[in-house]
Amino acid sequence: MLTTLNEDGTSNITPMSSAWALGNRVILGLGDGGKRLENLKRHGECVINLPDPTLWRQVEALAPLTGKDPVPDAKVHQFRYEKDKFAASGLTAFAAKHVQAACIAECPIQIEGNVVDMRLTGEPVRFAVVEVEAIAVHPHESMVIGEYHIDPAKWSPLIYNFRHYFGLGSELGKTFRAEV
Ligand SMILES: Cc1cc2nc3c(=O)[nH]c(=O)nc-3n(C[C@H](O)[C@H](O)[C@H](O)COP(=O)(O)O)c2cc1C
Repeated sequence: MLTTLNEDGTSNITPMSSAWALGNRVILGLGDGGKRLENLKRHGECVINLPDPTLWRQVEALAPLTGKDPVPDAKVHQFRYEKDKFAASGLTAFAAKHVQAACIAECPIQIEGNVVDMRLTGEPVRFAVVEVEAIAVHPHESMVIGEYHIDPAKWSPLIYNFRHYFGLGSELGKTFRAEV
């Protein structure tokens, strides 16, 4: 769940699944015409909040909502405008340390970040490839091992599998470079 900063200083929440991470970079795929991209173009700070499977109903409560007013023509039949997505989903905001967008307390991992590059693509423009520099990561203490590692047996991401919500199955094994 991506939180971005609205023009009035409140935070918008966008459920999103198109993301991958390498080193301190997270690459996001964001459709054009919504509030998320409008917010990131104006103010490139965000928080990437990673939900676990217990949060799928909150994610789904946000699914038919947009922070964009008026609702874009292409979405008008299925979406409605909602300014306060924290209230609409029952999720709890807390202040990030380095960015102005809010963190979502219920998510076991929050990644604070700054947009460092953005490329609009599609003909006509349909979405943006957004490169975010991760500047702080806040994992819930219960799944941290030592200073740097997350216990993979304790971290379970919510998986969006072709428009259906899933969790992980049980562990199959680990790679030769695993440190924990
Ligand atoms: C589980 C889930 C995953 C989604 N993944 C993406 C995504 O990766 N990129 C994207 O632009 N929209 C994605 N969406 C759609 C946006 O959440 C949706 O367009 C929403 O209305 C955007 O809100 P906003 O206009 O307030 O940003 C996803 C929606 C759901 C429910």
